[in-house]
Amino acid sequence: MKVTIFGTGYVGLVTGACLAEMGNHVVCVDIDEAKVERLKQGVIPIFEPGLDAIVRRNHAEGRLDFTTDAATAIAHGELIFIAVGTPPDEDGSADLSYVLAVARSVGQHLDRYVVVVNKSTVPVGTADRVRETVAAELAARKASVEFDVVSNPEFLKEGAAVEDCLRPDRIIVGSSSPRAVAVLRRLYAPFNRNHERLVVMDERSAELTKYAANAMLATKISFMNEIANIAERVGADVELVRRGIGADPRIGYHFIYPGAGYGGSCFPKDVQALERTASSHGYQAQLLDAVEAVNRRQKGKLFELISRHFGGELRGKTIAVWGLAFKPNTDDMREAPSRPLLEALWQAGARVRAFDPEAQAETRRLYGERDDLLLCEDATTAAQGADALVVVTEWKAFRSPDFVRLRDTLAGAVIFDGRNLYDPAAVEEAGLAYYGIGRGRSL
Ligand code: UGA
Repeated sequence: MKVTIFGTGYVGLVTGACLAEMGNHVVCVDIDEAKVERLKQGVIPIFEPGLDAIVRRNHAEGRLDFTTDAATAIAHGELIFIAVGTPPDEDGSADLSYVLAVARSVGQHLDRYVVVVNKSTVPVGTADRVRETVAAELAARKASVEFDVVSNPEFLKEGAAVEDCLRPDRIIVGSSSPRAVAVLRRLYAPFNRNHERLVVMDERSAELTKYAANAMLATKISFMNEIANIAERVGADVELVRRGIGADPRIGYHFIYPGAGYGGSCFPKDVQALERTASSHGYQAQLLDAVEAVNRRQKGKLFELISRHFGGELRGKTIAVWGLAFKPNTDDMREAPSRPLLEALWQAGARVRAFDPEAQAETRRLYGERDDLLLCEDATTAAQGADALVVVTEWKAFRSPDFVRLRDTLAGAVIFDGRNLYDPAAVEEAGLAYYGIGRGRSL
């Protein structure tokens, strides 16, 4: 099928590449000329396992193209995906200006039936707004063209985006138009594998499904961080509690890992946006408010532990930081827990020696050159001579260090394990003090 995708960010590029991989002819549109040029040359702006290979191959084989020309792109597709950003407004609600700009553009150029597909995470009611915006542009040029607007939210995870996109566990299609649903059924048929993945519902339910999924996952994480904070006060180990409750299939093992707080471009933004949606309808979402508040507090957790360990005196101390990205397998630092940590350490007069396998360029872009930040070539170099080691992101490479060697590398003998990667006994046996999240009495 012929598909047009507006936006070559995470969602747009991955969706475009995966639809091309399934044999469709995909044109991706972006307003950023330099980015489009680079994409044509096979240069992928983000680090995402497997993405560069499928982008290059499908581009070379003529199924995936990139352009800045909206009119040509709109002329191409039977389906027009909107996958542009919805950054948070100052008050936390989603900014729809990019989405509606695409809708206007579609209305200005449309000359036959198409299905407009909202892939961006957008507040409930946006499909209606997109429909009204396209219709208004058509009316302005007195064109009578039929079209449908479908909500088709994306559930891919950074770091596993290509896999998630090629093998979705469900495909949510929000549309009350049988004609549009039939088009999407055709597009997604190759993704069904052994059983039907499509869940068809109305537009508003589909839009809310996306927020509900992310808010539920964020709630699980904040809940576990809450339990971790209780565990360390009562002398329990949250890692044992985690396994104990995860065994109940109604709870499950997924997404109950305590840590330094959730980050990324989705959970913080989506929980806030859903709170905003609720309050704009006169409802105070108390649970969501708490999820958000617990997370904000959790992001200060590592600094709190470090500061206490050093009796509040961090001036002149050097802290080694392993992991800067908000999670492994990405170079994304949006809302990363490493950021409030670095900023608090600098504020307190400490210096940082950091290593991340992918996010160092992004760290440099965010913070520039500064005397109190040394980006190191590997994990061991980062630890060299530092007064403490903090693990912030659970990259595989950090999972089983040689603690005895580490004790000799570090100047101070202490590890702050922000992801509960290590066995405290093994660390302590090597002569290092250990702090985890919610593991016995660290407060
Ligand atoms: C999330 C969702 O998992 C995807 O399903 C969704 O499509 C996506 O948002 C989106 O809305 O686009 P993502 O932000 O890429 O995906 O990352 P996650 O793997 O969900 O991790 C989010 C944060 O939660 C990370 O900071 C991670 O470290 C943290 N986390 C995750 C925990 O602290 N504990 C856990 O048990 C799991």
